[in-house]
Amino acid sequence: MALFSKKNSTAQSGRPDFDILPEHVGIIMDGNGRWAKKRGLPRSAGHKAGAEVFRNISKECGRLGIKHATFYAFSTENWRRPKEEVDALMRLFKEYLLEAKADIAAAENNKLRFIGEREGISDELLRLMDEAEEDTKNNTGCEIMLAVNYGGRQEIVSAVNKSLREGKTQITEQDISDNIYTVPECDLIIRPSGEERLSNFLLWQAAYSEFWYSDVLWPDFTNEDLYSALREFEKRNRRFGG
Ligand code: FPP
Repeated sequence: MALFSKKNSTAQSGRPDFDILPEHVGIIMDGNGRWAKKRGLPRSAGHKAGAEVFRNISKECGRLGIKHATFYAFSTENWRRPKEEVDALMRLFKEYLLEAKADIAAAENNKLRFIGEREGISDELLRLMDEAEEDTKNNTGCEIMLAVNYGGRQEIVSAVNKSLREGKTQITEQDISDNIYTVPECDLIIRPSGEERLSNFLLWQAAYSEFWYSDVLWPDFTNEDLYSALREFEKRNRRFGG
């Protein structure tokens, strides 16, 4: 069962104070393409703007005291997009990772982690991902997880296969929890852009997630939108089936 964390006061920083914060927030960064189209720009421009928002919101999660934040950046299905768009996204990940050392590790004290399949990702990007994880592993702030080449069903299947390889013949929920990408249960899922579906994101971890939707497109998503989602979460009565 997911835990709640009570946040330290942020009143001095001008940020709102929350009595209850989700321990783990999952964010589906949706709407980049539509944002670009509205401006007559290529989709890659929407992703670039979305990457800036990711930088800001991931840091804000840390400043608010959220312990884990998972961002859906690239799904196992996204390889089917035009090569040009896939290449643009991979370039953005690389640019981010090249600056992540100074930005995330030093200034923000957050941890960076990647969840998803490694197969299909270039060796150069894998090396940068490994370095970023290594460089930030002792940080004590927010664990920022980037879901890259990630699919929730595939995560569960690979957890089952791991258990089978360990010799299990009867799989329990605990076996799966032990063998997925070890992210804790997700308390709140945020999806902008007007879509109201999970899209294969954190299927196992979202069993008791609260959902928050908004019409705002991801590149327009602001701290205020994040605060609105957190305010709404504070009001939810979570019973976990009990
Ligand atoms: C879905 O919106 C978004 C994606 C498939 C990519 C999300 C990636 C980013 C925001 C960039 C992340 C960068 C870093 C550095 C982590 P869509 O493009 O499908 O939008 P649409 O539904 O409007 O077409």
